[in-house]
Order: sequence, then structure tokens, then C-alpha cells
Amino acid sequence: MPIPSESMLLETLRFLHSHPETAFEEHETTAHLRAALEEAGIAVHPCGLDTGLIAQIDGALPGPTVGLRADIDALPIQEDSGLACSSVIPGRMHACGHDFHAAAVLGAALMLHAQRDTLPGRVMVIFQPAEEVDGGGRIVARHPLLHECKCFLAGHTYPGFPAGTVGVREGAVMAAVDRFRLVIRGVGVHAAHPHAGIDPIVVQAALVQSLQTIVSRTMSPFSHSLVSVTHVEAGNTWNVIPSTAMLEGTVRTLDPADRERVEKQFCQIVSGVGAAYGTPIDIEWTRGSPAVINDPALCELARSTALAQGLTVDRQDDTLGGEDFSQYLMDKPGVFVRIGTGGQRPAHHPGFTVDPAALYPAARYFAALARACLEAPLSL
Ligand code: NI
Repeated sequence: MPIPSESMLLETLRFLHSHPETAFEEHETTAHLRAALEEAGIAVHPCGLDTGLIAQIDGALPGPTVGLRADIDALPIQEDSGLACSSVIPGRMHACGHDFHAAAVLGAALMLHAQRDTLPGRVMVIFQPAEEVDGGGRIVARHPLLHECKCFLAGHTYPGFPAGTVGVREGAVMAAVDRFRLVIRGVGVHAAHPHAGIDPIVVQAALVQSLQTIVSRTMSPFSHSLVSVTHVEAGNTWNVIPSTAMLEGTVRTLDPADRERVEKQFCQIVSGVGAAYGTPIDIEWTRGSPAVINDPALCELARSTALAQGLTVDRQDDTLGGEDFSQYLMDKPGVFVRIGTGGQRPAHHPGFTVDPAALYPAARYFAALARACLEAPLSL
């Protein structure tokens, strides 16, 4: 019987799927993964947070160290997938497939451990909490145990490809994610006397319009970026002009230079609109994780490994979604691949599912890719 068996991994996936835990609360998930790793005799370390862990696979032969990372957190969504192993926790769901990542990477860890006698180097297997809130990666990626890693590997489920297909692409494959929140400080007044106050709702409307020109009028049509206002608030009744108005949203960019350009243009528009209407506007700008940028040599390795495993290789689709795997790639190369998992629904949908047939090949693929990185020239 192979180590681990396919049924053991499927059982792990079903358990994790039915027990989803959101960011920083992945205690049961961590305990489950820890038990499986320790039972196999794999050394397990804390990852710098209360949840999550780093497993250390030491090969018997000398060689470099590589990092293989899975995220493990779920989402605050009520599941409506109809699966027999649906979430037993109300309002919590693995709707992004992080249960699949954890089970597949656990499988890879067990496979690598089983072949440790011929393994040239060390694999640090990272089970990272809190990816969905962009909080886990920035802590775990700085862990001293990972300093020796020459590169980092990770994957994500993808409903757009069937089981058995891997998506790989060079360059920026996930976006830098920044957030903004504006508070417009007008002067509240009776609705019948607008001239006696400063209406922040008019300023808010002008901002929503003007911010749209950042991408459409100041960025190259060939660049990839967006500015979305997603939340507006002002006032609470029909005959009062309120004193403040709020709007918030997100900025997504793939190119680091575009990221700077959008932020600069954004601040210029906000202060210009504020000056035009005579209202101070507070700007809160929160920098999230940068773009995930795939290393070309590692992409080549990810492709050749997939083909050697009998998998189909496709081109990874464009997205302006975010992913804190970029925290590991601040000064190390890495590759972030898409694992075809089929299913009818997109990620973060209450009906999201994965094709269980994708699990075992994904585990084998991650193990083979980690091994290929250990065996590749150090210059990678
Ligand atoms: Ni995800």
C-alpha cells in the first residue's frame, strides 16, 4: 500500500471540510494535521502563531532546503453545497479549498518523509493560518526556520480546470491588494438650508466618479489594475444633511510601479476634490500583501514535473485576486500554481466544491515538485 493511502487523504479532506475554522482560530485543524504528521514520525514546530505549524522533513542526503506552503483557514460563509461532509459549524465554510491545500500538502509531506532515505536536502512544510485576512503570511514567512529555504512552492484550487490539470505562468499571477477608507468632514445642516453647511454626500459622489478615472485615464490600457469603491455610508434620514460621509474600497495592481502610481493619483484626486468643495478628507490607506510573482525557472520546473507525473499543463488565468504567499517571495524565488479541481461554483461561493479525484495527484505533484527543487541546481 502506498504511503499515505488515497483513502487516508480523502478522509483528511472530508474531516477538514466538515470542521472549517476561520483566521487565527484553526486550532482543531492544526491538531488534526499535527497528529497525522507526528504519527508518521515527522518533526513539527510552531509557526509563530497560536495555530498552524511547520513540519520538517530531513532527507538522508545532503542538499538545500525548500519551503512548501499550504494555507488552512476557512471563510465566514454558510455552506450550501449539498455535500455529505458539509460544514458542521454554522456560518463557517471551506469555500476557497484551503482544506484541499492542507490535505494535499499533508499527503506530500508524508510521501517525502517515506522517501527520506534518498531525499537530497530538507523540506519545510508550512501549514499557514489566516490567509483570507492577509495576516498569517506576513508573520509565518519571517519565521527563522524558513531562512534557509532557497525557494517557496504553493498551489491553489482552481474550478476552471478539471482534476489532473495544473496551471502555470511566469510573472505576476496574483495582485497586490491595498485598501482605502475615506471620511469626508462636511458641515451638517437642515436639508432646506444647504448653503449654510457643506454637504459631504455631494463630495462623496464626486469622489466615486473621479476615482474611476485613475484606471481609465491615467494608467496604460495595457496595464492591469483596478480601483473599486465597495462601501459608502452617509446620513440617516431624509431632511438632514449629515456632517460626515464615508467610503471605502480596494485597489489591485500587478506591477509594483503601477501600485505606486495608483496610490499617488488616488491621493491627488482626493485632496483636489476636498479642496474644490472646502472639506477636509481623512485618508486611511492600508497596504496589503504585494503581487505574487512567479520565477521563470521554477515555472519551467513546475511544468516539467507536472508532465512527468502524467498531468496536463495549462496556462494559469489572469486574476486580480490577492494571496499572501507573496510574503514568502520578498527576497526568495517561488512558484504559485493552480491545481485543477473542477466543480460548478467559483471560490467563496456557498456551493463551492472540489473534485476529490484531484487530491491524490495534487499530493504526488507537490511532493515531486519539492523533490525536483532539491535536485535542481542551486542557482534556481
Ligand atoms: Ni484561497
